[in-house]
Amino acid sequence: MYNALGFMTEKETGRRSINVLDPRVAQQVAAGEVVDRPASVVKELVENALDAGTSRIEVELGDGGTSRILVRDDGSGMTRENAGLCVLRHATSKIRNVQDIEAVMTLGFRGEALPSIASVSSFSLTTSTGEGAATKVAVEGGADAEVSAASHPKGTTVLVDRLFYNVPARRAFLKGARAERAAIVEVLTHLAIAHPRVAFRLTEGSRDYLSLPGTKDLLERLAQILGIGKARALRKVEYESGPFGVSGYAALPSLTEGSRANQTISVNGRFVRAESLQRGLDDAYRATIPSGRYPPVAVEITADPRRVDVNVHPTKQVVRFSEERAAREAVAAAVRGAIEWRPSAPPSSPRVPERTFTQDRFSGYSPPRTDYPSRSAEDFSPHNAPPAQGLQEARERLSEASAPLEQSLAEKPEPYGDFPERGGLPKALPEELRVIGQLAAGYILVEEPGSLWVVDQHVAHERAILDRLNDSDSPATVQSLLVPEVVDLPPAEAELAAASLEELSVYGFEAEPFGPRLVRVTAVISTLADRDIAGAFKDALLAISGTEPGHRREDHILATIACHSAVKMGDRLSQQEMEALIKSWLTSRLPATCPHGRSICYRIGMNEVARKLDRH
Ligand SMILES: Nc1ncnc2c1ncn2[C@@H]1O[C@H](COP(=O)(O)OP(=O)(O)OP(=O)(O)O)[C@@H](O)[C@H]1O
Ligand SMILES: [Mg+2]
Repeated sequence: MYNALGFMTEKETGRRSINVLDPRVAQQVAAGEVVDRPASVVKELVENALDAGTSRIEVELGDGGTSRILVRDDGSGMTRENAGLCVLRHATSKIRNVQDIEAVMTLGFRGEALPSIASVSSFSLTTSTGEGAATKVAVEGGADAEVSAASHPKGTTVLVDRLFYNVPARRAFLKGARAERAAIVEVLTHLAIAHPRVAFRLTEGSRDYLSLPGTKDLLERLAQILGIGKARALRKVEYESGPFGVSGYAALPSLTEGSRANQTISVNGRFVRAESLQRGLDDAYRATIPSGRYPPVAVEITADPRRVDVNVHPTKQVVRFSEERAAREAVAAAVRGAIEWRPSAPPSSPRVPERTFTQDRFSGYSPPRTDYPSRSAEDFSPHNAPPAQGLQEARERLSEASAPLEQSLAEKPEPYGDFPERGGLPKALPEELRVIGQLAAGYILVEEPGSLWVVDQHVAHERAILDRLNDSDSPATVQSLLVPEVVDLPPAEAELAAASLEELSVYGFEAEPFGPRLVRVTAVISTLADRDIAGAFKDALLAISGTEPGHRREDHILATIACHSAVKMGDRLSQQEMEALIKSWLTSRLPATCPHGRSICYRIGMNEVARKLDRH
């Protein structure tokens, strides 16, 4: 319908007249980008305290932060004049012009946090530079600030009462006190890890949720947070490659948790939630932990600030790198280098995280490969002792493996002097170990001076084999079978096998259809040659049908081959076979856990044996 002038009426266009928002309303709308729950308020206030050079931060909550948040610091404080300005939008002492952002080393720079918080709460800030009177600034739901004289020691206290009381829609999104408090504990933990020198305390009523005295180093802070027991599994990360440095600690794969709460990644001192860097951590632990598990890690990436864009999102937790992929690879290589024990790879040398074997596989399927060079599987089969040079290698590797421990002990003899060695593995040199024999045809008993080790023979062998399958330096060989293995399959699977011959060949399976239900396997990776070929073939097919092509599928298939190649529970082994297996396992890169994250061995101390037998 047109009106007399030929224009559509407002109702018909759905057009409304435009209002310029009252600045207070505009601020409340914008505040949603910076603060969406109590944890983001805590993050902003704590970051301000850190920027002010505080040595201790105290956070007090009421109802998980939903009714009250108080953050106190002993930092620089503000003069009366600055205190009056700090709650105004775009008021910041940290940058002057847009170029400054490029080199910003403070956590804040947008001049938004305090005005945002003050617009959606009953806000007050009391501050003193330690000279002259203190100042109190009070803001009620974004109204004009009331500035008055007050008393306060050097530093600043911010009190945020009734968060979102004037934005009911946002208040409705808050979860219960417990969930909001948990989010606060998590964010404070990350901040505390990124700033180990600063003391942090979080209380609600008479309960302490975090109490972390300032420390001299990150390892000590991690031990405060994880407990000394878990901190024992941490290994030092130290890495430099091109524009990136990566340092910190990463847990051995034997220690995992159900969430990323203890995976802290910071970039130039700023704790961030960068997905691509988290993926870098996942890359580092590929094929060593079960999916959905996360080893504790605390790494800091140092990069030229001009290569990092921190102004991507108002919360400043998202960062963008000019070389995103290189950053992810640096994280992966750094952590991998820390958790691997390989004499040829000093932790600081740059390593390419992808295996060449992998890259070959995904550069498009090649025709069946029979040309895998160099070492044959016999080198690591338990039926053959490793070559003599293996011992020397093992010795180097073992002394290397204990280096991070010695370093951490030297750095911090007290109170963590009892970090045990090597995350639950024999630490003696291989020639000092003695294989006692086999228990119940499933466990190998190994004597180390002072201890008895019980080793799960299947899992240890599986680890050793998988390690070699993943080893791009000495890829596995493919072996033709003297007698081809005929595998009986349901018709649908036989069809899938026929359609997947090319992919299967990449994993060493040379196969051909042999009637509607049968497939004839004529060659396999040599570890598998005298083992459960049919089982491995069926599981590889299952992996192909159940997963998308890519790393996950590849890991799955290799794990399957390793599992079916390994000796089983119930296999009786000769003394020589056991000795070869133990050596092969202990010289693998990640001997502490099986590919699914299970433990491989445990130790019984001689003291314990003596105690049990009343020999004190
Ligand atoms: N705890 C504090 N101690 C000393 N000065 C503070 C404190 N909190 C805030 N300020 C001052 O108030 C200013 C405004 O703080 P606000 O958090 O709003 O902005 P910002 O930190 O500069 O930037 P961003 O919005 O990115 O956090 C800061 O630049 C700083 O000068
Ligand atoms: Mg700030």
